[in-house]
Amino acid sequence: MKSSSVVSAGLTTGESPFIEQAKRAGQLYIEQPYELYSPENHETWRKLYARLLPRWDRYANEHFLTGIHSLCLNPDRIPRLEDVNRFLKPLTGFQTKAVSGYVPAFVFFDCLRNRAFPTTVTIRRSKKLDYLPEPDIFHDVAGHVPMHTDKQFAEALVRFGECAHTAAEMAAGIRGPDTRVHYLTSVIKAMARFFWFTIEFGLMRGRQASGPGALKVYGSGLLSSYGEIEHAIEAPEVQRYPIQLEWAINQGFEINHYQPLLFIVDSFDHLFSLVDQLEDWMKAGKLSNVAPGEPEVNEEDLKSFLHAEIG
Ligand SMILES: [Fe+2]
Repeated sequence: MKSSSVVSAGLTTGESPFIEQAKRAGQLYIEQPYELYSPENHETWRKLYARLLPRWDRYANEHFLTGIHSLCLNPDRIPRLEDVNRFLKPLTGFQTKAVSGYVPAFVFFDCLRNRAFPTTVTIRRSKKLDYLPEPDIFHDVAGHVPMHTDKQFAEALVRFGECAHTAAEMAAGIRGPDTRVHYLTSVIKAMARFFWFTIEFGLMRGRQASGPGALKVYGSGLLSSYGEIEHAIEAPEVQRYPIQLEWAINQGFEINHYQPLLFIVDSFDHLFSLVDQLEDWMKAGKLSNVAPGEPEVNEEDLKSFLHAEIG
């Protein structure tokens, strides 16, 4: 009887006994228990994919459109991560890696450095198709992973992961524990803001032979949101500016509503150069006192940097 209740509960976000059990057992990395997805879970995937398809055609950047094609995702069924990896790995070396839930900051960035992407296996409830603050497999696999098929984008992500190592090394060289925590809190905030305004909510100027083209979306938070992908490009009240690193790392953000401010990059080479600059600034001490405000840095994130295995 117990196993049938586990099966019927499926792998719905926040309601999955399998995931709760893994968390209680302290297992971060898990296998994707594919047989546990309920018909309702697959139906949620189908609806999300069908709604977004025409908006991707209209608003997504060309690298995403190529990527989603290369992954051969099934519009009707939640993908098996091993199938996704079979298509993804030969392209850039990236792979999805199933996780049970929250991944502390250093661990997450270190995975990127190793071309692994911590991937949520649960899916939102069918009655809650719109934006939700926590990731699910639709956000992670349909929103993030197609970007990982692009070589330049993948290199920028790996480079970003390397910055976390630099931060941990620098923190290890700081003597007083309080000063070390203050330093890390600021650096993690800066990195989280950079990630948010680029990888999650970035816009890119398309190119045309005649000059700059239309604005397109490359941030995964936008690519996986039916409402916000259109809002990001069309709404007159959204502020859209060419990215300035000094602004992005000092700018707080809130996760529970559409973003009022978005930053534009020219290309993924441009993104890569920004990550380089981020590391240069880190080394020069410029990230040690960024503006206070969102996001909060939690204990787990701090610990993950303090106990990082570096070198
Ligand atoms: Fe995300």
